[in-house]
Amino acid sequence: MRLDIFTLFPQWFEWFETQRHVRNVVAAGSQVRFLDYRETTPLGAGQVDDSPYGGGAGMVMRVDVIDAALQAAYGDARGGRRIVLLTPSGRMFDDELATELAAEPDLTLLSGRYEGVDERVRDHLVTDSVSIGRYVLAGGELAAMVVADAVLRKLPGALGHAESALEESFSSALDGHPEYPHYTRPPTYRGWSIPEVLVSGDHERVRQWRRERSRERGAGEGTGA
Ligand SMILES: C[S@@+](CC[C@H](N)C(=O)[O-])C[C@H]1O[C@@H](n2cnc3c(N)ncnc32)[C@H](O)[C@@H]1O
Repeated sequence: MRLDIFTLFPQWFEWFETQRHVRNVVAAGSQVRFLDYRETTPLGAGQVDDSPYGGGAGMVMRVDVIDAALQAAYGDARGGRRIVLLTPSGRMFDDELATELAAEPDLTLLSGRYEGVDERVRDHLVTDSVSIGRYVLAGGELAAMVVADAVLRKLPGALGHAESALEESFSSALDGHPEYPHYTRPPTYRGWSIPEVLVSGDHERVRQWRRERSRERGAGEGTGA
């Protein structure tokens, strides 16, 4: 995958790119870039935003600035590239969308700032608008990181154990349910014991128990139980 993340704060991603799964996919041939809108803005003094038409508080990121950034990176050859705008009002990000994006050879994430971006970006420059939840962050960097993290860990070679990614929360292997509980040593702590079935050595019973717990969690999903 060739993943590009556009941002006004590329330094936010310095930690992200050191993470093992990110390093693993890069070592396996993927490319991950962090591109600064200010580097390519056609306006003077690194300007990227302007006041909103119609009045109101805050500033809006300009369409010509974002178009120039995309133009500098891809020229006119954007055809087929999935370009995702991070916005609170976009399609809700979930495991299904992460899987869909992980299948793309080329993916671009656009982080907004301030009051957001000129609506013509959404109308004309991107293929998708994606939200990571019904709340408002100060900027799209964390949202882009959430999407990139979930997508990159699905790529071959990202995780130490490829099986880790197969039977995970919301995966088809668990019929879309959350994952079952995990336990490790000690077997009893402050009187809290692990379920006996997990040390029974009966793999079929363990498998059955895990599927039941996963289904149960699915039924209680959203309650925090
Ligand atoms: C302060 S927010 C803009 C919020 C906007 N005025 C609104 O009310 O929807 C600035 C940027 O943060 C990002 N952002 C904030 N919350 C987000 C969320 N829940 N999902 C995805 N991106 C988000 C977007 O890129 C957005 O352009």
